[in-house]
This record gives sequence, structure tokens and C-alpha cells, in this order.
Amino acid sequence: MTRHIVTTDDDPAIRKILRIMLTKAGYNVTPCENGNELLELLANTPTSIDLMLLDIKMPGLTGFELLERIARRYPTIPVVMLTAFNDLDTGMKAIRLGAVDYLTKPIRQEELYSCIQRVLKKADEEQKQKKREDENLAIKKKLEAELRRTKNTLQRSTISTLEAFSETIEQKDPYTKGHCNRVRTLSVALAKAMDMNEETLQIIEGGSLLHDIGKISIPEEILNKNGALTGEEYSMIKTHPEAGVRIISHIPSFKQYIPIIRSHHERIDGRGYPDNMQGEDIPLDVRIVSLADAFDAMTSSRAYRSALPTELAVEELKINAGTQFDANLVDIFIEHELYLL
Ligand SMILES: [Fe+2]
Repeated sequence: MTRHIVTTDDDPAIRKILRIMLTKAGYNVTPCENGNELLELLANTPTSIDLMLLDIKMPGLTGFELLERIARRYPTIPVVMLTAFNDLDTGMKAIRLGAVDYLTKPIRQEELYSCIQRVLKKADEEQKQKKREDENLAIKKKLEAELRRTKNTLQRSTISTLEAFSETIEQKDPYTKGHCNRVRTLSVALAKAMDMNEETLQIIEGGSLLHDIGKISIPEEILNKNGALTGEEYSMIKTHPEAGVRIISHIPSFKQYIPIIRSHHERIDGRGYPDNMQGEDIPLDVRIVSLADAFDAMTSSRAYRSALPTELAVEELKINAGTQFDANLVDIFIEHELYLL
């Protein structure tokens, strides 16, 4: 493909000699007499120009002024400056302003040819490199989008599995219908109110759906008993966190929910079960689910008692802040009116 070179020089003799030399070497040449003519040409055909030869000293717009505009507006077109002064400073200034090279007048044919070949080769390489980078970027973006889609699908299917598990728990105990889902809503809302990150939110969501999975191992007549539990029955109920951990440990991707399953009945004052953990030894995500679990239990009917009105349940939270519940979490829960959810 014939390469297109635009020359700009106010001297007709220079324009002529450049046209002759460049045409002889097989280039297409468009000579311009001044800056305005060049700018007009650029505005109409910027993409078809492969290289520009630009005189520095011209009436009207000087070569430097033009160079600055071209470097800003047409950064991919290489510009070689022509200078009458065999002066290193002028050449360096041209390079600083965005020229790729400079030639000193009088222009020698060999020097002109080798400069043009060098500049065109470099521009071609840069263009190829840019094309490769653009292609790589496009591939990267495509892969990232695919990864996001796969992650979303996986997340949806994980949540569906967790929902199915939590339904299995609830089927054993009709009084807890919807409990896991409400604990999930409250826990996630509380975690969001605390600006927790996406990863923690997901653990809280899954953990809250699964927290009572161990109840599968408790006989239904104990879970649904109408009257007060005997000591032995209560001890049996208290095994559900550890039973839950045993069930879940068979599923590697569910291991992240183990702290919530094991410790959701721990209390800040250390009087919970199964490990008598205290204060901040109980992980924050666990403390969040504990509060949500207890609040929903209080405001739902159970086999052995009816539901507590919301305002009384909120009072219970306040009374037990710092002993059963994390006091800071109780404050946030009330401040954000999460009891209305
Ligand atoms: Fe529980």
C-alpha cells in the first residue's frame, strides 16, 4: 500500500524538492503551504496520513504551534520536523513537544529516506502493538464477564441448595416455618447496616439459612413438645449445633458456615453453648446471626408459647444487651429499625 506523506513548508523550493524526492521513492505526497492548509487537510482526512514533515519557521502558525495541536488531536500520526537551524536545542524542543524526529536543512536524500523508513516502521510496530493490546483487553473483558456470569450462576444454585436445606429443617417443626428465611433477612440487613463486605454477607446469608441444620438429628416429639422440656430433653436440644457441624462437614463448600452453625447459641457473657465462648471470641458474623435468631424466635409462636409483640421483643434485646447479645449490635438493630422487617 502506498504510504501518504504530508509536507508543510512555506518555501516553494523546499516543497518542490521534497515532492520530487518522496515521489521518486514511491510515496504519495500532499504539499501544504502553511499551517491553516495543513489543519484543513487534517480535519478532512486524518486517518489516511501516514507521516508529516513540518517546517518550524513559517509565517502564521509556526511549526511548534502546529506540532502541539497535532500531538494533542492526532497523536497516532508521526511528525518529523524540518529545521533550518542546525541546532540541537531546536531539535530537542521538537521532540519534547511530540515530534518523533527532526531533519536539518538542506535535506539530503539519503537522510530523508532513512528517517522516513525508520519512522514509518516504528509507527507500524506501535500500531500493531496497540492492536494486540486492544485485542488482549477485549479478551480480558470477555473472560471477566464470563467469570462474573459463572459466579452468579454458582451463587444462585448455592443459595437454592441452602434454601432447600433450610426448608428440610423447618418441615420437622411447623412452628419454625419461615424462621430460617426471616433470620436470613434480619442477619443480612444487620450486616449491611454495618457495611460488611460482599464475601461476609454471603457467609452470613448461607450460615443463617443453615444455622439450625443440626435439628434434623433431634426427635420431632422433642422439637414439637407442648409442655416444658425435661433436663434430658433440653440437653438433647443443645446438641443441635454440634450435630449441624457434623452434617455440614461432609460438604467442603459449606465449611465456611461452620462457625455460625456451631456457635449461634453462644452468649456474650459466656453462658451459652456448646463452647461457653465469651465476648469478641464469638466471631462477629456469628453474633449477628445469634441476635437475628433470638429476635425472630421471640416474635414467632412456638409449640410451648405464643409470639411476643415486637415492642416487648425489642425491650428484651435491650435488657439482654451485653449479656446475651452484643450491645453494639443491639444498638444498630434498633437504630436502623430492623425490627420492622
Ligand atoms: Fe439453633
